[in-house]
Formats: sequence, structure tokens, C-alpha cells
Amino acid sequence: MTDAPTRNETAIPVEALSSIEAAEELARLADEIARHDRLYYQQDAPAISDAEYDALRRRNEEIEARFPHMVREDSPSKRVGAAPASGFGKVRHAVPMLSLGNAFGDDDVREFFARIRRFLNLPADQPVTVVGEPKIDGLSITLRYEKGRFALGATRGDGREGENVTENLRTIRDIPHTLPGSVPDVLEVRGEVYMSHADFAKLNEAREAAGEAIFANPRNAAAGSLRQLDPSITEKRPLRFFGYSWGEASGRLADTHWDFLQRLKSWGFRVNPEVRRCDSAEDALALHRDIGEKRALLGYDIDGVVYKVDRLDWQERLGFVSRAPRWAIAHKFPAEQAQTVVRGIEIQVGRTGALTPVARLEPVTVGGVVVSNATLHNEDYIRDKDIRVGDTVTVQRAGDVIPQVVAVIAEKRPDGASAYGFPDHCPRCGSLAVREAGEAVVRCTGGLVCPAQKLERLKHFVGRQAFDIEGLGGKHIESFHADGLIDGPGDIFRLKDHAGDIREREGWGEKSVEKLLSAIEERRSIGLDRFIYALGIRQVGESTARLLARSYGSLAAWREAMERASAERHANAEEAKKPEAVGEAYAELCNIHTIGMAVADELAGFFDRDNVENRKVLDDLAHELEIEDVAAPAAADSPVAGKTVVFTGSLETMTRQEAKAKAEAMGAKVAGSVSKKTDYVVVGADAGSKAKKAAELGVATLTEAEWRALIGG
Ligand code: IVH
Repeated sequence: MTDAPTRNETAIPVEALSSIEAAEELARLADEIARHDRLYYQQDAPAISDAEYDALRRRNEEIEARFPHMVREDSPSKRVGAAPASGFGKVRHAVPMLSLGNAFGDDDVREFFARIRRFLNLPADQPVTVVGEPKIDGLSITLRYEKGRFALGATRGDGREGENVTENLRTIRDIPHTLPGSVPDVLEVRGEVYMSHADFAKLNEAREAAGEAIFANPRNAAAGSLRQLDPSITEKRPLRFFGYSWGEASGRLADTHWDFLQRLKSWGFRVNPEVRRCDSAEDALALHRDIGEKRALLGYDIDGVVYKVDRLDWQERLGFVSRAPRWAIAHKFPAEQAQTVVRGIEIQVGRTGALTPVARLEPVTVGGVVVSNATLHNEDYIRDKDIRVGDTVTVQRAGDVIPQVVAVIAEKRPDGASAYGFPDHCPRCGSLAVREAGEAVVRCTGGLVCPAQKLERLKHFVGRQAFDIEGLGGKHIESFHADGLIDGPGDIFRLKDHAGDIREREGWGEKSVEKLLSAIEERRSIGLDRFIYALGIRQVGESTARLLARSYGSLAAWREAMERASAERHANAEEAKKPEAVGEAYAELCNIHTIGMAVADELAGFFDRDNVENRKVLDDLAHELEIEDVAAPAAADSPVAGKTVVFTGSLETMTRQEAKAKAEAMGAKVAGSVSKKTDYVVVGADAGSKAKKAAELGVATLTEAEWRALIGG
């Protein structure tokens, strides 16, 4: 799991990921994106292209969108860039410098507009006006003006804390030292520092002539130039600046983003001349096409168009979702493609038994990266596109981290190429492979009999978010498993009985074995949340595991509740469609915010009394380990932090989604149904049974106005 993933690997399409696979991939993506952030932000040495980086982030976002309960604490979506490198003082941003969500196709843009309409509950005849701006491919900075004088300038860093590069920024001509006219006492102007193509070419020529290393692209050149410790070097570099937003401001700036841009100009900032107002998604798409056509002539790199809701009062209401505003999106330019030949089709077996086909390709360069494998997703994908060994195909990178085969070039098919027959048995264990009704994935039915599945589950158990045993990575698990030292997870804690054997193995010695065994001993006591996650129950990712741990507190309480919920589910197998109809323990489980019946059923299945194997694993681990109880989080500084709130009936001043987002932003838990554990029920118009239930249970009810007063506005 800690192995560095390669760019050429293939992946399961997001819609076919099991929850366990999703959790593993989110962990992997968090690591990989953090690594690229460090390379990019701290070392000015990106290892992958922007499109590829975006693809990584996009896949992460897509998986999170499908498994919202799995969003990790260290998720790249909650974090922007990397912590600052040393050498410069640090600056804590008063207002975080966030990032933008991405749109890759026209439909993503239409959905962006639709989402805004839904969120604000706008009538059909009310236009949503956005400002479209080229997305400059430079580095974002913030400029703090105090009483109109430039006082402090910083890079974005990780979004919360950047580097103090004030003196370097003073050398850039586009950045005014004082602002004329009326300016709020404190004003932070934000925008992009970049280098033009012409200046970049000149700089590299000069560097080459002087025998210095040349920059890979204008953005690296701009970043490298801004992060010089000696401002006199920065001064010689032709850096430019476009303003496009603001951070802290002590006064009102404008009513619309458009007007704000006009004010920026009046203060002497350069605002991109291509910015336009657009009154609909179709207008915005037309602007994207226009700018796309001009792209090569602009004289500087852009990688898309950013759309921002024009009305600032709407921006305020729309707010943010982890790292990105709901009121803006970056519409990227399309992916890069190339043609190559399919040399073979192989099948990989995942932890949940999913069989994933992979195309082995004649290596080809796509947008600067050599691609030799591409995912074929699943059986239908191969059949629909009729992909055959020997075919010449178009491959694409971007929009997805994994290269994809997008089309077959029919004219180039060699004689005799035959249609691919998807296997009906697992290539690893020979068990029957089946595809359940409504599923895209063919799965090996071997369960723990299949060496591939068994091994993958063990790897999950020791993964970074699970037991995270230092010195016991996936490769060690593989070899210990192959030699029979480890069969089930409990065996890890009995490895000390094989210390002698391990010492004899290649690559091991007295010291390293001792270290490994003491790392294992350290993990003999572990938090309930990690323990639950490590079990690898389908659909139970890290955040669900954490929720379960917090809700039940101890292993004994959790296990007892799960066994009861499972028995209740067993007793009313099919007929019950609502949690309450299944039973009390089951309903209590479903009342944990974000846990629905699908997750509850996975848990019930895991604890099913017929599932002897799981019980054995649990008993064995309970015997070997000490599972620490988990306490509920302490209440933060908000009147509703840690409170459970239920909204019912229709609200007048905001949509349900807006109300929920706001409550969660203030630390409340929003539940779907009323129980004894509910703190407040906010009752809108035409509320039905939930308001009644609250009265029965004696739970406090609030009107919408009372709720607004409680949360302070
Ligand atoms: S607005 C809260 N506007 O893109 C939103 N960003 O992926 C703040 N960028 O960090 C960003 N051109 O470095 C905005 N016209 C533009 C931009 C722009 C380039 C960069 C910026 C930002 C990143 C987000």
C-alpha cells in the first residue's frame, strides 16, 4: 500500500469500485497527491504534467462524491498545495487560499449551473450570471495592503499558510506599491503570477548560454523566480501579475464580482482582458470555445476557463465545500490523446474479487508521458467498444489518472483478430466468476479461498490507515503469506514465534527482525476506529469506521450492537424497506448520519451468525489485541457543535441543502430521523411525522427563525 504507484497502472472505473477498493484508492491518492504537491510547491520540480495532476485530483473527487462517508482527514480535497518550504518566513492566511473544483466537459458546466439553481432555489426565469476568466497557469499569491500601502505578500503554500515573499513581489512591475482612491483599511488582493511565452523563451536562452539548467515550462520558471531568496534575482526575471480575487477586506468591495474587477483596475492592477459576463451555461460554453480558439495566441499559458457567480451575496450563500467554493468552477481544456496497438488483455483480481481487464499497449507518449497499460474497466466496456488484441486504439490521459482506451480504429484491425471473451472463472484461483444482476463487475466467488483476495485483505489490514505497522508493507505480507507464516490477520501478532525463521530470510537480520517485532507489539493496542477500518468490511471506509467507533465507544458495545442488528436483519430478510421496520439496533445504526441501509446491510452481513470465518477472525484478534475505546469529539466553539439536528418540513429562507451545509459547517450532525439522541428538530412549513415524534420524545423543536437566531443569523 505504501508502494509508489506508477502512472501506467490501470484502475477500476469509479462506478465499479467497491467501498474497500475506494478506501484503499483514496488512501493511495492522498499519498500520491501530497507527494506531487511537495515536488511542485517545495521543490519546483513537478514529476507529472498538470493534466495528469488534475486527473489524480479528479479521480479523488469522484470517488469521494460516490463515497462521501469515506472522505479522509488528510484528503487532498481538504488541502491545497503543500506546506511551505523553508527559507522564507511563514504567513498564516487570514482567509484561506482555496482551490477550485474542475469541470471537464460541457455537461459538468451545465450541472454546475443547475447545482447553483437548486442550492439557491431560483425561479426558472431568473438567470444565473457568471464571470468567465481565463485560468492562468502560474502560481497564486496574496497581496496585503494596509491603508492602501503594500505591506505583505505571500504564496499560497498549503492554503492556510504560505511563504512570505513580500520583497520579491515588490520587484514585479504589475504589482502597485500604493493604491489610489478609496481603499478599505485592510485589503488582500489575490491573483496569479506568471511568465509570458516570449519572456520564458528569452530567459531559457540566456540560461542555456550561461550553462545553467533551463526551466521545463513557464510556470516552473515563474515559481522558481518568485522563490529566490535574493530579491535582486527576482527583479531580473520578467514576472507578470493578473488580479482576480480577494482575501481579507475590512470594507465592502462591490455587489458583483464584475464590479470588483473594475475596482481592481481602478487601483492599477491588471485584470485579464478576456473576462466576460455570461448569463447561462450555454453562454459560458461559448466563451470557453472562444478562449480555447485564442489560446495559442494569448502569449501565456492558460489551462481552462474559470466561471464565478457574479452576485457576491449569492457567493456568500453558496459558500464552500471543503477546499473549493460552490460558486466557482474551473472548466479545463480537453485531454491529450495518441494512437497505439493493443498487445494483450490481462485480468487483475482485486480485494473484493473484482476482475478488472487491463490492456497491455505498445508504449506510446501521450502528452509527455509514456503509457504502456490502460484500463478496460469491465466486460461491457470491452464489448461495447469491441476492443480486440491487435487493434490500433486511441488512448487518452486526463479526466482520469489512468490512461483509457477511448476508441478502436476499425480500418486498422488486422485480419483474424477475434472478439475478446471475458473469463467466467477467476484466473487466480479457478473459482467461478459471476456478475450479479445490475452490476458491471464480474467477481471471483472464491472469497478467502482465492489467494488474490486473501492477500489483498491482509494488505488492507496492515495499510496506512489501518494497523500501519512500520516495516511490514505489502511486499512483506506477500512473502510471509506465500511461505505460510501469515494466513489470517491474527497471525501477524504471532510472528514472534517465527523470529528465527524470519532472521534467516533474505534481506532480514537480527536488528530488522527486532524492529519489526517491536513495531508489531506497539500495535497490539489500537483505537477502535482503526480496528474497525482494518477489518475491511465492504463500504466501511475510514470515516464510517470513525463514526461507528464514536457512536458505540467500545469494541464490546459495537460488536454486541452489530450482532443484534444482524440478527434483526436476518429475521426480516427481505420485506423490511425501512430501518425502523427491521429492528431497534438496526434503526439505531442507520440513524448515524451518512450510514444508510446499504452500509448497514454490509455490517449486518459481516456479523451474520452464519459467517463463521469473520467471527473466528474477530475472536482471534480480540484475544491478541487491546482495543482502545473512542470518546466522542469535544464540543468546538459553536452553539451547535456536536449537536444532532433534524430538519423537517419546507424552509422559507433557504433550501434544505443550504441549511444542512450551514449546520454541518458549524459542527452539528444532521440526522434524517428523530430519536432520543436528537438535540433539535427544526420545523418548517407542513412538517409531518417528525415534528410529532419530537413532541412525543420531548426533543426541543425550533422554528426556522429560532434556528437562525441560534446559529447567529
Ligand atoms: S479563483 C476561491 N480565478 O487556479 C477561488 N483562480 O485551481 C480562488 N487560477 O488557486 C481561485 N486563474 O492559482 C481563480 N481567474 C482565476 C484563476 C485562478 C488561475 C488558479 C489559482 C487557484 C487555482 C485553482
